[in-house]
Amino acid sequence: MKITTAENDIQEILYSEETIKARVVELAKQLSVDYNGLDPLFVCVLKGASFFYADLCRLMSCRIFMDFIAVSSYESNAKSTGVVRIIKDLDKNITGKHVLIVEDIIDTGLTLAYLKDLLGARKPASVKTISLLQKDIPRPREIHPDYLGFRMGSQFVVGYGLDYSDYYRNLPYIGILKPETYS
Ligand code: IMP
Repeated sequence: MKITTAENDIQEILYSEETIKARVVELAKQLSVDYNGLDPLFVCVLKGASFFYADLCRLMSCRIFMDFIAVSSYESNAKSTGVVRIIKDLDKNITGKHVLIVEDIIDTGLTLAYLKDLLGARKPASVKTISLLQKDIPRPREIHPDYLGFRMGSQFVVGYGLDYSDYYRNLPYIGILKPETYS
């Protein structure tokens, strides 16, 4: 029987488990100070942000609420159009709450901009954003997350929640796929 391992498909590790952990600890420390006493609602954008979200939330030293939203982007010629379909909405009303949207990666930035507008229209006390990664690419509408893990190049990455065709999310690090994996 041929043994397939996800590791064999990785060309290069961009952010190791240790590097990610250290940065998530720093972000959680900052958020614990900034949100202390505000009882914020941390919104996980499924599925990509799930690992980052779980690690971040369990490192928070102040009280937080947790909720989940699942989205899928409409694509045209394999390019994101920025129009997002809500697959699973939040469970609770967010009016008057301090909301933090937790995203995995900002590529075009259209998904995060859409979610910020969507949740902002529900009259929260505040709506801020955090992304683990942001690609350094030119965008029609620049987006500045309030908190950011790492600024990276324009490569396609997988692992730590990020997928290619729903594979590789379970890798503990973030890496670049071998080109032959796409073919
Ligand atoms: P955006 O709307 O173009 O910023 O892209 C949003 C979504 O595309 C992210 O939340 C990811 O799910 C997905 N995505 C963008 N770049 C990558 C990548 O390099 N690896 C895996 N998923 C990605």
